[in-house]
Amino acid sequence: VLPPNAETLADPAAVAARAAEHLVSACETAPAERVAVCLSGGSTPKLLYALLARPPLRDRLPWGRLHWFFGDDRVVPWDDPSSNVRMAAEAFGTDAPIPPENLHRIDPAGGAEAAAERYGAALAGFFGVARPDPATPLFDLVLLGLGEDGHTASLFPGTAALAVSDAWTAPVPKPGLAPFVPRVTLTFPALAASRAVLFLVTGAGKRAPLTRLAAGEDLPAARVTSAGRISWLIDAAAAGA
Ligand code: 6PG
Repeated sequence: VLPPNAETLADPAAVAARAAEHLVSACETAPAERVAVCLSGGSTPKLLYALLARPPLRDRLPWGRLHWFFGDDRVVPWDDPSSNVRMAAEAFGTDAPIPPENLHRIDPAGGAEAAAERYGAALAGFFGVARPDPATPLFDLVLLGLGEDGHTASLFPGTAALAVSDAWTAPVPKPGLAPFVPRVTLTFPALAASRAVLFLVTGAGKRAPLTRLAAGEDLPAARVTSAGRISWLIDAAAAGA
């Protein structure tokens, strides 16, 4: 049993191609001049980011007015192997014409609390909204992954970040899965302040969390809402086909 609005595709490349279409569509339908996309970390999205940075998709995106945010990151230097900034930089590569001022990275300086505070202020400044209203869409697209424990972004089961309802971000001193470094995560209201949320889930390792979600378990990924539409792109291996 799959989540609602789920599409099963043959393999990770097909998931990436379909996700790219979602992103192009989000850009085409964005009501504001600036398009705001929130990137997910980990390994699943690498194929998508590489696809976006090269023709033909590269030529279908409005790079000058397309702004990139991170749904979470590890509180490590940007050149650290576990940094999502590094993962995205390597996946997009130097072909992606991202203006530096359009890339909104989580600055790890000062530790998780300071980093979360700083990133929350950056989001508030960009959107002109002190705290996110889950009913008011601000991101045009939020990309999310699914952890094997059912976490998404860095909203891990049993952490205080799950309860934050009045801030853009939260520190996560003790994540539930490796890498066991402090994280900064967007909160549920921040993720909800979106026109579209797109989960990318590939690989047999995700059958277990998908099964638990289908059984109605109250996992963090199950708590994600959106002012717009939540969709899932799942490959055959994860769907258990
Ligand atoms: C992170 C991600 C995280 C990720 C899931 C799935 O910083 O780790 O944002 O939420 O999406 O853990 O990770 P994989 O794509 O590596 O399976």
